[in-house]
Amino acid sequence: MKQPSPPTGPNPTDPTDARASTSPPGSPPRGTAAPPRRARRGESLRFAVTHALPAFARGIPAPRPAVVALLGAVGQARWSAATLRALHDRDDGAPVLLGGASGDTLVLLDPADVQEFFARPVRELALDAVDKTKMLSVIEPTGVICSHGDLREARRACNDQVLAHHEEAHPSCGTFQTVIAEECSRLATKPTLAFARLQRTVQRISRRIVLGDQAAGDEELHRWLLALRKEGNWGAVRHGPTPAGQRLYEAATDRLHAYAPHAPAPTLLGRARDTTCGEDVDAVGQAHHWLLALDTVAPIVARTLLLLAAHPAEQAALHDVPHAPDTTRLRACVQESLRLYPIVPDLLRILRTDTTWRGVPYRAGTHVLVPIGFLQRDSGLVPGGSLFAPGRWCTDGADRDTRMAPFSHGEGRCPGDRLGLMAATEFCAQLLREHRLTEGRPRLDPHRPLPGALNASGIQLTLSRT
Ligand code: HEM
Repeated sequence: MKQPSPPTGPNPTDPTDARASTSPPGSPPRGTAAPPRRARRGESLRFAVTHALPAFARGIPAPRPAVVALLGAVGQARWSAATLRALHDRDDGAPVLLGGASGDTLVLLDPADVQEFFARPVRELALDAVDKTKMLSVIEPTGVICSHGDLREARRACNDQVLAHHEEAHPSCGTFQTVIAEECSRLATKPTLAFARLQRTVQRISRRIVLGDQAAGDEELHRWLLALRKEGNWGAVRHGPTPAGQRLYEAATDRLHAYAPHAPAPTLLGRARDTTCGEDVDAVGQAHHWLLALDTVAPIVARTLLLLAAHPAEQAALHDVPHAPDTTRLRACVQESLRLYPIVPDLLRILRTDTTWRGVPYRAGTHVLVPIGFLQRDSGLVPGGSLFAPGRWCTDGADRDTRMAPFSHGEGRCPGDRLGLMAATEFCAQLLREHRLTEGRPRLDPHRPLPGALNASGIQLTLSRT
């Protein structure tokens, strides 16, 4: 695929620089409206079979370990990449319109289009795509992603304040780091660390960060939330929540409301209580997403540590500084693991107004997809795309480079990006303070392109005391 844009072109580190969007290669001349480039029926079918259906079968809010393992064993990530590459190569990366069960989806495969995707306002290119909203409305019906327009802006402003999106570090960072240190101190006592134990620890941390110590031992709440997320896996093919899903949502929400008045001020629910969120915003309801998002720290940590176990030089570099490990470098390792194995590999939006893209008109209601998991691994765009090279995140502006987007960019960028990165980095740092990773399963070959998918629930790590 194409090389990164030359210095005279759009600035890939600035999501608001949409210069390229005015006339990327393949655009019709000004004043003429070309018809959309429609995929052939076989191409749409191939996309559905190799990319969209496996993503649905894998389970989005609650990944199904058996399906993830099966798809890994048959090499589904390679099929999906081959499909997207073929779509790209047919017309030099021009946007392509695919037909599907939920209507048309415009797939963007060129870096200039991806840059424009991030630069457009979310009022026009909204996050509440149909299938995503059907899924999320089971587990967080009052969440920010399930909305658009004024209501979304109010929900987003509430999230931004509670999560301190515009601040360098979260004001409760110190409290959260203490929570993580306390929980990790129990973990490293055994030489092997399996994913299930790591996951239970992360869930305790999520509850303490969102609700406070009062909820530390409330595993029942997490059982309800996990069962509810499994219901959410089916959301896209159902008409609304099932009675069982409704009961789970109500039980979990009642529990959140019971905790809310007593949540200490530094916790997320405490901050939500003390923040003016606007009358229409269900501030407590946002906690469903905060718990879901913080729970993803478990697979992120497991994959980061597995990558470090397979790259001894990178692990050694973390201890080059006194009072190791070097958290700046460790944070880059977490970012690199997220680039290779993103939590959100497909960024999906919906057009809320009729609009044009490269001079081609599209109707409101058209979906727009950036398969970022595929693009940010493409060596033509990101050198050494399938290799673990954390140093790339230590260069100036890497975090704003639109070729890599584990947290998205622009107005839809994750408001919990710094908090999530801090939590994952601190967790790894605690484990590596007095231990070294000596082995990891599955085994990864650091000299070959890394596998397209890594089933977190199958990861097992061996730690030895320093
Ligand atoms: C730990 C790693 C995390 C990753 C990789 C991640 C990634 C993302 C991505 C890619 C999006 C955009 C989704 C889309 O376009 O559909 C997003 C949205 C969001 N994330 Fe995160 N996230 C993380 C952690 C967190 C945390 C810790 C929180 C809060 C506690 C959080 C809260 C949110 C919210 C509220 C949104 C919706 C934003 C909106 O609709 O404008 N995330 N996240």
